Amino acid sequence: MLSRLHVYALPKFADPESLAGGTVVVIDVLRAATTIIYALQAGAKAVIPCREIDEAHRIAARFSPNKKILGGERGGLPIEGFDLGNSPEQYTPDRVRGKTVVFTTTNGTQALLHARKAHKILLGAFVNASAVVQKLLGQETIHLLCAGTDGQSSEDDILLAGMLAEKLQRQGGMQCKLNDQAIAARELWRHTLEIARASAAQLPKPEPLAKILRHSLGGQNLVAVGLEKDILAAAQIDRFAIVPQFNPETSRIQVIK
Ligand code: MLT
Repeated sequence: MLSRLHVYALPKFADPESLAGGTVVVIDVLRAATTIIYALQAGAKAVIPCREIDEAHRIAARFSPNKKILGGERGGLPIEGFDLGNSPEQYTPDRVRGKTVVFTTTNGTQALLHARKAHKILLGAFVNASAVVQKLLGQETIHLLCAGTDGQSSEDDILLAGMLAEKLQRQGGMQCKLNDQAIAARELWRHTLEIARASAAQLPKPEPLAKILRHSLGGQNLVAVGLEKDILAAAQIDRFAIVPQFNPETSRIQVIK
């Protein structure tokens, strides 16, 4: 079977109607997707993505105080009055186990909502890359939807899209027809691997990947607000084996088995 594998460097490049019927992976390496994966891995019951801060407050008000966590960022920084920011390692079992995280970020949660017509909406980051590949094997139509940063594409997301495209074809043996952005993303990933090999860096190790991600737009923004440590948390390839799925009908992101 010849599958279709499409990458979109930004949500606006994907017509929401064209996503209907396919499987979408929403990618926001720095940091929303990574943070949501950390939160669910730490035992959060679900994550509810919200576009606006007011909406997040309204939804959180429906839960009893010990059953919810308000999390997210604006300008990369924690939001006043919220429990947690958008730093993956803040979402520890102590803070989130058994709770629902009501979450709003500048780009990642918006990208998720852009994909709401898709048949299936998964979340991908470097920390769960191989688990995502397993879920995608054999799918007929795959869309890798990058969140970008403030309306601009960001290399962290494109690199992961390229890595997923490469793994699906090379390791998964999938025959795929790629769109141009998928070809560009895959070439960027291959080129990055070659440079890493030439400098004897081992990409499965987090430090060399973190060094590359630091130069992306999202990475530079984190450095500017003093949150560079979050880049290393996002660069732990295959640290987790879970794949979160967003269900627009319940507005919840949960782990699928
Ligand atoms: C987002 O979803 O907007 C990003 O994760 C931005 C950030 O982490 O600062």
